[in-house]
Amino acid sequence: MLPEICDALERANITTPFAIQEMTLSVALMGTDLIGQARTGTGKTLAFGIPVLQRSVAPKDPDYAEIPQGKPQALIVAPTRELALQVSSDLSLAGADRGLRVLTVYGGVGYEPQIEALEAGVDIVVGTPGRLIDLANRRVLDISHVHALVLDEADEMLDLGFLPDVEKILRMTPETRQTMLFSATMPSAIVALARMHMRHPMNIRAESSYENATVPATAQFIYQCHDLDKPEIIGRILQAEDVEKIIVFTRTKRQAQRVADDLVERGFKASPLHGDMAQVAREKALAKFREDKIQVLVATDVAARGIDVRGVSHVINYTCPEDDKTYVHRIGRTGRAGASGIAITMVDWQDLHRWKLINKALDLPFDEPLETYSSSEHLFHDQGIPPGTKGRIVDPAPVERKPREDRSSDRGDRGDRPSRNRNRTRTRTRSGETVADSGPAASSEGGSSEGGESKAGGNRNRRRRRRPSGSGSKPAAATE
Ligand SMILES: Nc1ncnc2c1ncn2[C@@H]1O[C@H](COP(=O)(O)OP(=O)(O)OP(=O)(O)O)[C@@H](O)[C@H]1O
Ligand SMILES: [Mg+2]
Repeated sequence: MLPEICDALERANITTPFAIQEMTLSVALMGTDLIGQARTGTGKTLAFGIPVLQRSVAPKDPDYAEIPQGKPQALIVAPTRELALQVSSDLSLAGADRGLRVLTVYGGVGYEPQIEALEAGVDIVVGTPGRLIDLANRRVLDISHVHALVLDEADEMLDLGFLPDVEKILRMTPETRQTMLFSATMPSAIVALARMHMRHPMNIRAESSYENATVPATAQFIYQCHDLDKPEIIGRILQAEDVEKIIVFTRTKRQAQRVADDLVERGFKASPLHGDMAQVAREKALAKFREDKIQVLVATDVAARGIDVRGVSHVINYTCPEDDKTYVHRIGRTGRAGASGIAITMVDWQDLHRWKLINKALDLPFDEPLETYSSSEHLFHDQGIPPGTKGRIVDPAPVERKPREDRSSDRGDRGDRPSRNRNRTRTRTRSGETVADSGPAASSEGGSSEGGESKAGGNRNRRRRRRPSGSGSKPAAATE
């Protein structure tokens, strides 16, 4: 590995390679095609990023005169704008001393800056399919010289929604290119399809079997819940012991908006992230989440893949995810890079069948999710919620206030810190404990994939681990 890249990574405290990086580096540096599979959060970005940076010629290199000037040498395609931006930023970090020009090409923003950058000359392009094709058709982007093409989240890129666009892009690149595919999930049908676009690709897998697709250090909890009780449940989880940041995944954009509004009304710093928002607002929401200015991101699957935010202690599925792959990627937003995580999935009665399919596909032990209410003792126990906690930290708005719609615009930015104790003083008796039989049954359900210890008798051996570094400052709303 080039010392320039090592030094840059070392400044970001990346000193020893993760498994997938170690396994792919030498192969990728030779220009071999490869399909790399490794669990979420285990460093796939640098596994392709380092070879891409290292095999590209920088303008300061003597060989630069011999290649087409200013034309992209490598192309990385990702399914979402936010992921494209993040991959670019990782590449820029690792390549800081190489002097390579990295450009993100993505939709929802103006063309001009991207066109200007392309005209000035770039070395590596990271982009989403739509805008890439668009700029290529306008003849501003020339990808006919790329020596490397990477599909990040490759199974998604080769799935029906993206396949025609990706094939178009592939046709615009040289046949002699190196093709690299990366994802945490790689169904065999996709691998078969992918091979048609590759030359003797090597399969590299950082773990041995698909049963282990989920990250072992993430404790999984599956609860059968009533829709109307869910915001109250989340509000209580938000006051649990080890909570840092939370991503709540919803099924629809409207649901993301509604749940975010609800949590804000309860006093939490939350923001939605979905495809109906303007791109600037999407980026702003994610930036605030990264900077700990908001504690809860309520997102659709636009944030399910690849997004890497430090300090995400919990992922909550507001409804049962579509399928096993979506489940794996969503819960993979926590428990990254060796940290522990907690993944909570709320399953509606009508989704039980869907959940069971996921459970079976991933060989998980949660075939019968436990009926769970915001008042259930096992919820408090599993999640380390202090007794008496309610799901809001500010009093409900008086009814005479303006109607919801009128107030929603200024809610997201409510900067003042809510006084979270106000409601606590009204600790009630435990009359709300609707689930009487939550003891031993709760333990087997609430348990994680690690199996073994169950919490018979209600003693507190919760299967949760603290994050090793206590990383990230606690967001305001979660701090005492
Ligand atoms: N060798 C390393 N040492 C320490 N941290 C690392 C190393 N490699 C990567 N990381 C960090 O690990 C985190 C996860 O990496 P990355 O986003 O590449 O995971 P991924 O495998 O692509 O996950 P996903 O499947 O969710 O996309 C990032 O914050 C990254 O900076
Ligand atoms: Mg990734």
